[in-house]
Order: sequence, then structure tokens, then C-alpha cells
Amino acid sequence: MNSANRFDIITIFPDYLAPLKLSLIGKAEAAGIIEIGIHDLREQTSDLHGSVDDTPYGGGAGMVMSPEPWGKAIDSVIELAPDELHELIVLTPAGEKLTQEMASELTKSRHLIFACGRYEGIDIRVSDFYASEKNFKVREISIGDYVLGGGEVATLVIMEAIIRLLPGVIGNPASLDEESHTLKSTRGALVEYPSYTKPQEWRGLSVPNVLLSGNHGEIAKWRMQQALIRTKKLAD
Ligand code: ADE
Repeated sequence: MNSANRFDIITIFPDYLAPLKLSLIGKAEAAGIIEIGIHDLREQTSDLHGSVDDTPYGGGAGMVMSPEPWGKAIDSVIELAPDELHELIVLTPAGEKLTQEMASELTKSRHLIFACGRYEGIDIRVSDFYASEKNFKVREISIGDYVLGGGEVATLVIMEAIIRLLPGVIGNPASLDEESHTLKSTRGALVEYPSYTKPQEWRGLSVPNVLLSGNHGEIAKWRMQQALIRTKKLAD
């Protein structure tokens, strides 16, 4: 069995996923921590125009993505990780909202398949069919309460949130423990405290004295207070 986590993305705009070659994710792939496949849905169509959508049953505005090319595309990527449990992520504003906890859970999945819908979404029978298959889990995920042109940008967001948590991806894993939404108090998840670096004074603004004190207990206390203040402000 392969040791890398595998990510397969199905889209009608493969070029949209070009940023996956950059920075943290690009390096993780080069290091063999992850494997990424980007697949053009239109390769699974049989008509001259490469049609991937059709009018909705029941009427209404817009077009719906047809199940047949999706079924073929998903079946073909299953073959790329045949021994794994497959988790199909369907990107939709109607899905459950992405959280840090969910990103952390998804690091455990060995084979994630991202279905980037466009138009009015993908015929729901695609989700229903794979949800009933053995060795499959289906999740519909939204990255926020707004409507994007398609699932590609949402895929980039979710993949980045997952991949930076994988062992070996971030140089100093201790930094993961201190960041927003991971930092815990007895009151639950907090956003991160504010950070400062050199110079000590910039445009008349100084670094708080406590951070220069070398007193680790006081620094930790100040940071916790600041994180609580910021979190409360967001909730107001
Ligand atoms: N597709 C369109 N809008 C989206 C959103 N907010 N999240 C995930 N996928 C989407």
C-alpha cells in the first residue's frame, strides 16, 4: 500500500488547479507526502461537443451537470487507489460548512476525490450512488455562505487546510498548536493572538513590553487574554 495521501480532482477547468504546484502543496507533492491527480471531466464525454450538462427536470433556470460523465470520471479515479476507502467531496454552497475540525478529520482519509461542480450543481444521483457503494464515503462541503462560480476555488481552500496539517508538511509542527481555531481555552476554540516581529518600533507603534520581558508565564497569559478579546470581538 502506498504511504502518500492521494487527492484526485475532477473538473472541467484543470488549469484552475495550477496553484497546487506552488508553495506548501507543491513541496509536499515533490517530497512524496501527497499525490495529486487533476482530471478533465470532458474526457469522459462521448458527444462531439463534450457536453457535461443538461436542462433540469421539473424546469427552472440554469443547467445541471449530467451524471454519466461524473460516474465514469469517479470510477476511473477509484482505480488509482484501489485498496483505499474513497471519500468523495462534492463542493456545493448547500454542503456542511468547512471547519478546522473537519480539515483535521479529513487528514485521516487516504483517498480524497473532489468533484468540482459548476452551473446549478451535479445531478444528486451521483452523490446518492456513491454513498451506497462499499468502501465509499460522500460529503458535501461548502467553504462559506456565498456562491462561487464552481467548486475549484473551494477545492484549493479545503486541500490547503488539510495538507498543511499532514506530518512533514510544515517545518515547525508546534506552530500548528498555537494558531487560530486550534488554540483552546476552557471556553472552546479561539482565534490566534496578535503577533509582532522586528523592528521593536515601526511608524510610531511599539511592541508591547510584556513580549520583551522574557517572562514566559506572563507572555502566555497576555497571549491568552488577547486571543479571548479577539474571539469575543468576532462574536459581537
Ligand atoms: N460552489 C459554489 N459555491 C460554493 C461554496 N460556497 N462552497 C463550495 N463550493 C461551492
